[in-house]
Amino acid sequence: MTVAKLFTPFEIRNVRFPNRIVVSPMCQYQATDGLVQDWHRAHHARFALSGVGGAVIEATGVVAEGRITPGCLGLWHDGQIAGMAEITRLYRTHGIPSGIQLAHAGRKASAALPWDGAGPLAASGSPQAWQTVAPSATAPAEGWPVPHELTQSEIADLVEAFAAAARRAVTSGFDFVEIHGAHGYLIHSFFSPLANSRTDAYGGSFEGRSRFALEVTEAVRAAIPAGMPMFWRVSAVDHDPSGVQIEDTVRLAQRLKAAGADVIDVSTGGISGPIARSGPPQFPGHQVPYAARIRREADIATMAVGMIMEPALAEKILEDGDADLVALGRELLADPAFAYRAARELGVPAAESILPQPFAFHLARREQALARLRTG
Ligand SMILES: Cc1cc2nc3c(=O)[nH]c(=O)nc-3n(C[C@H](O)[C@H](O)[C@H](O)COP(=O)(O)O)c2cc1C
Repeated sequence: MTVAKLFTPFEIRNVRFPNRIVVSPMCQYQATDGLVQDWHRAHHARFALSGVGGAVIEATGVVAEGRITPGCLGLWHDGQIAGMAEITRLYRTHGIPSGIQLAHAGRKASAALPWDGAGPLAASGSPQAWQTVAPSATAPAEGWPVPHELTQSEIADLVEAFAAAARRAVTSGFDFVEIHGAHGYLIHSFFSPLANSRTDAYGGSFEGRSRFALEVTEAVRAAIPAGMPMFWRVSAVDHDPSGVQIEDTVRLAQRLKAAGADVIDVSTGGISGPIARSGPPQFPGHQVPYAARIRREADIATMAVGMIMEPALAEKILEDGDADLVALGRELLADPAFAYRAARELGVPAAESILPQPFAFHLARREQALARLRTG
């Protein structure tokens, strides 16, 4: 019997993912002062009990001003570690590696919650608004405030903030970290010529535009144990002829690998506004060709993401060698039992055994009862 690749383990550095289904990072906008709340515990408990192979916790501000919204999580001070440690414990108890997405939202920070329109807080005169920062003093879109152009010493402070947050992530018990280098946030905005018009060492050429990304990567690699994997989310393309092209991202991935990144998590878009409202239409697996190209040409493991909703598609992505892992976002919100469904549909023997025993025991009995019904 052929074993579904989706349910084979994935090992990287000292971490073993029991299968290839990963919870994609998803902001919940439910934090207070960057702190974990009951919502986050409940949200992650659903996945910790679901038989997934790994989970990436939402974009987490490495400084308070790096949050997308006032409801985003943070790891900019030690008081935020205890809440994170509760989340890592939930996953660890069930043998699921958890990671955290370390982020700075740059010129797209200080935004309203999605269901309040996701626009700039400053535009509505909200007292919660704060000054945004970016490589250049260019607003991300019409109606957004012009960000403060970072000085080189402020850039150095932010590199250190990423490293300090990574150290807190290690203390919190995370098994891996992910750098958020996508979606128009600070790191991506340095890399994209659409957002970076600097004339110093952090702008201009490919070398200049990738400098911040590489400095963050090297600083985080030095801050975490050698056995801890580092994931790195890219926006592989800007969907704009003047922006980031896949060739640029392949080249970046080669450099990231040399700087200590292990898995490229391949998303796209977002440089000048919400991803869902820009770029070509999305369809199941729409970003997979980028993951495939980065995997082949930069010789690095990749994680594919984007409307992967069917087990057969997830399996095909792995079988075709387009990615090593698949990340699911909204499908897991809709169906936290996706991994069990996938195991059954892909013919994994004793599919329920991917679940914790209190579920698996009874689901095995249900399978037997169903089998009896089928055979009369
Ligand atoms: C509620 C929600 C929150 C998200 N938050 C993040 C985030 O914190 N970091 C990130 O890189 N992507 C974020 N994303 C994007 C997802 O990780 C994923 O890439 C995207 O939803 C496409 O995958 P899907 O079609 O399986 O949902 C978010 C998506 C959703 C729906």
